[in-house]
Amino acid sequence: MTKPNRILMTGAAGIIGQQIRDGLRELATHVRLSDLADPGPAGPGEEIVPCDLTDTPALPGLVRDCDAILHFGGVSTENTAELIHRVNIDGVYHLYEAARKEGVKRILFASSNHAIGFHTRETRLTASTPVRPDSNYGVSKAYGEALASLYWDKYGIETLIVRIGSCFPEPKDRRMMATWMSAGDMLRLIGCMLDAPRLGCPIVYGVSNNDECWWDNSETAYLGWKPQDSSARFAHLFENDPPEDPKDPAVIYQGGGFAKAGHFED
Ligand SMILES: NC(=O)c1ccc[n+]([C@@H]2O[C@H](COP(=O)([O-])OP(=O)(O)OC[C@H]3O[C@@H](n4cnc5c(N)ncnc54)[C@H](O)[C@@H]3O)[C@@H](O)[C@H]2O)c1
Repeated sequence: MTKPNRILMTGAAGIIGQQIRDGLRELATHVRLSDLADPGPAGPGEEIVPCDLTDTPALPGLVRDCDAILHFGGVSTENTAELIHRVNIDGVYHLYEAARKEGVKRILFASSNHAIGFHTRETRLTASTPVRPDSNYGVSKAYGEALASLYWDKYGIETLIVRIGSCFPEPKDRRMMATWMSAGDMLRLIGCMLDAPRLGCPIVYGVSNNDECWWDNSETAYLGWKPQDSSARFAHLFENDPPEDPKDPAVIYQGGGFAKAGHFED
């Protein structure tokens, strides 16, 4: 793909959106930023288009004239099934429909490690590993992955599915030493997605080059993405933590606390 004229980022006011926003200006001439919340004023090359992803009639206008969509908007943690369905299932479906009708050909879908959270830590996962969700939230990400696959096979819309580990400024606990992804590595991955002559519908684990890692991205080496950061520099934050209990479900399963937690509404 040549340098896109306009890309849309949903979830622009969120944790990832705020971390990568400035870097997106290098990747496209115009960056359209959208969220339910206020992402702050537009900078050079930016336009702000507020939108609720559950407002179906507004979605074609939101995606119009965009060469690619970075879909980070939505419910980003466990919640009621009702809310998750409305935003992360119906909302994603209608966003893909808007993309199809408006001719947007390339999408990044922000999936999650919680789509595969009931795999154990000692299992090395690849792009071919089946989903094993650990929550209502994880199920909604599995749905998004399946929808992306359908829109590629049937309509030729390419999606980079990123099973994001933990994309925060720094790891918040020991588990995140394995799952952490830097904003810089996310931006480099987006650059590879926009550059790829053929993207298809690959699944990539969104993780930096950490010492401990449960995920293998070798099946998608054709993208040329090489994470450059590592959580190693944050190891001192957790060196006085008590040892992890190997019988704790939050330690057994890759999804951590999401796999351990009971039903959200109980
Ligand atoms: N940050 C991570 O480590 C991580 C890990 C795995 C997956 N993800 C996924 O990446 C995406 C971004 O994550 P984040 O950490 O920035 O989450 P976040 O919660 O900080 O940001 C999500 C944004 O979506 C917006 N949003 C929620 N409901 C909406 C609606 N109905 N209409 C429009 N906007 C709405 C929120 O206002 C928020 O700004 C999410 O889809 C999340 O599931 C993030």
